[in-house]
Amino acid sequence: MIPDTTYLNISQLVSPGGTGASRGSAMRDLDIIADAAIAVDSGRIIWVGPERDLPFKGFHEVDCDGSAVIPALIDPHTHAAWGGDRYDDFEARVAGVSYETILARGGGIRRTIAMTTATPAEDLYRLTRNRVERLQLGGAATVEVKSGYGFTREGELASLEAIARVAAESAARVVATLLIHVPPVVAGERADYLDMVCRELIPEVTERGLATAVDVFIEREAFTVAEAERIFAAARGHGLAVKAHVDQFAAIGGVALAIEHQALSVDHLEASGPGEIAALAASDTVATILPGVSLHLGLPAAPGRALIDAGAIVALGTDCNPGSSPLYSPQLALALAVRLNGLTLAEALTAATANAAAALGRFDIGRLAAGMHADMIVLDGPDWREIVDTLGGNVPGSLYIAGEEVW
Ligand code: NIG
Ligand code: FE
Repeated sequence: MIPDTTYLNISQLVSPGGTGASRGSAMRDLDIIADAAIAVDSGRIIWVGPERDLPFKGFHEVDCDGSAVIPALIDPHTHAAWGGDRYDDFEARVAGVSYETILARGGGIRRTIAMTTATPAEDLYRLTRNRVERLQLGGAATVEVKSGYGFTREGELASLEAIARVAAESAARVVATLLIHVPPVVAGERADYLDMVCRELIPEVTERGLATAVDVFIEREAFTVAEAERIFAAARGHGLAVKAHVDQFAAIGGVALAIEHQALSVDHLEASGPGEIAALAASDTVATILPGVSLHLGLPAAPGRALIDAGAIVALGTDCNPGSSPLYSPQLALALAVRLNGLTLAEALTAATANAAAALGRFDIGRLAAGMHADMIVLDGPDWREIVDTLGGNVPGSLYIAGEEVW
């Protein structure tokens, strides 16, 4: 095989080691090659190694100027498709009203549902696209975007259509997830709502290829374990992967259910205890932590350290959304995971790359090795640890997606 481009003069080429998801202490195993080069053909990496061993000469060359190169970040959890804002909720929370109380009163997620469903399709597309572009400036080449503020069949389809258009028209790799977010307020309407989700929405989303996974918010103020089980069964019956928001405020059994259904990931985990940690360590389900939520809501941080010490596969996301984590920077999520969740620098990088890919069921991104897509960040300095040390701001350097420079 012959490259179309070689990337030269790389001080450190840094990538999570191994293949597939990295578990427990293996999250600290980075492959670091000094004075390295990368060869790329048609957007895929065909060779990495020390530059002196590069077997290809005379192809298009990119001089990385003595900088470190890392895999592009992957944000496996966002709610970037929303209309309106939650500034009033934020003021109420600062004045002492809890997130759950605001939601129980019909605010919070329900307020965003009202504002999103009142947003014209073109505006929802533009808002979603702008947010995905901000997440790219924060280092992400791949961004998962959930629906979940559409609520009705029509509303959810409209959100997924906006996400599909962003996927088609932006440079980012966009992964769409159908999120079944909150049940109807009137208890008597819950069963009909679940019927609609399982018998109409999931089949239509599958048929139109609008999402690859279904996510459910399992929580006291959202869906019960029994309700989530029905949704998971419908999703899996249609060949979709499953994911869940679990243990954000209370551990009500979502982790065990999700593992039983071979979920790709369970996300949040702020309220997880030893039982949930042990169950995740014994499973292939990725534990996705979201430090922006801890910062914005003042929740205890998810037990990232304990999960890794127990042997779990830990990933990391922004949870970019208007209510619990208005965080547009995957880089800052990476930096916060070290400060708030107790990850080491190397673990945080693995969580935001190879393991974030695994949380999306993807094994062709998140590492810099032959066969992978050439999604990478050429940093602006010689030491990769800058990306974890820095607190916010756009990531300095250049982002490449499939070998093409995006910024
Ligand atoms: O991941 N917890 C549920 N869903 C979102 C919050 C959405 C919102 O507050 O609008 C989350 O935190
Ligand atoms: Fe979320």
